[in-house]
Amino acid sequence: MSAVPFSQACENNKAPILEVISQVFSSSKLVLEIGTGTAQHAVYFAQALPHLTWQTSDQACYHVGIKAQLEQARSQGIANTDPIANIQGPLILDVTQPWPLISGQEELDGIFTANTLHIMAKEMVEAFFIGIGERLRAQGNLCIYGPFNYDASYTSESNARFDIWLAQQDPRSAIRDIEWIIELAETQGLRLVGDHSMPANNRLLHFVKS
Ligand SMILES: C[S@@+](CC[C@H](N)C(=O)[O-])C[C@H]1O[C@@H](n2cnc3c(N)ncnc32)[C@H](O)[C@@H]1O
Repeated sequence: MSAVPFSQACENNKAPILEVISQVFSSSKLVLEIGTGTAQHAVYFAQALPHLTWQTSDQACYHVGIKAQLEQARSQGIANTDPIANIQGPLILDVTQPWPLISGQEELDGIFTANTLHIMAKEMVEAFFIGIGERLRAQGNLCIYGPFNYDASYTSESNARFDIWLAQQDPRSAIRDIEWIIELAETQGLRLVGDHSMPANNRLLHFVKS
């Protein structure tokens, strides 16, 4: 088996995120995750939300790790049961490229992403919202986890330091202004209905498509 990726941050934030998304996605059938990364969130959320299908996706370079994580979760099933039968293996989805077709796509009523918008360049964030506007069903829910600035200010010293670190990794990455995110969402018919406080000065934004 390939190395199973691990993020301590995912371990720390998965329970608080689940508390919110279990309400938001309580009647969802099909949720697409963009930027699945280590797939720790996918495994944890899908097991806690067996009524829905969790569709993983990411850029191709992440797929080996995602598949290793899913394989490990499946190997922990008791008596040959598949504990993550409701997870679909990763689709290649780079938000700037044509988005892949998703099985059962007409039912795509939820989209989740964590820690992606501050990694993406500005034009990628714009492409992210255009794709969501095209794919998410009316009345569908979008949940975005990550750090955001308010009134052009950091919400903490640690976020200010993190932003400097981000710029050192890639000058196109940056913590985004929530006002800009709301504006992009509104151009796609999405309205902010929840802004939840999360661990380590992060937020969970909940949008609904009209
Ligand atoms: C910091 S990781 C977060 C991974 C995981 N969601 C988490 O919370 O640990 C950033 C993620 O953004 C994704 N990403 C960056 N640019 C992207 C793009 N253009 N299209 C799709 N995903 C992108 C990366 O592939 C990666 O999975």
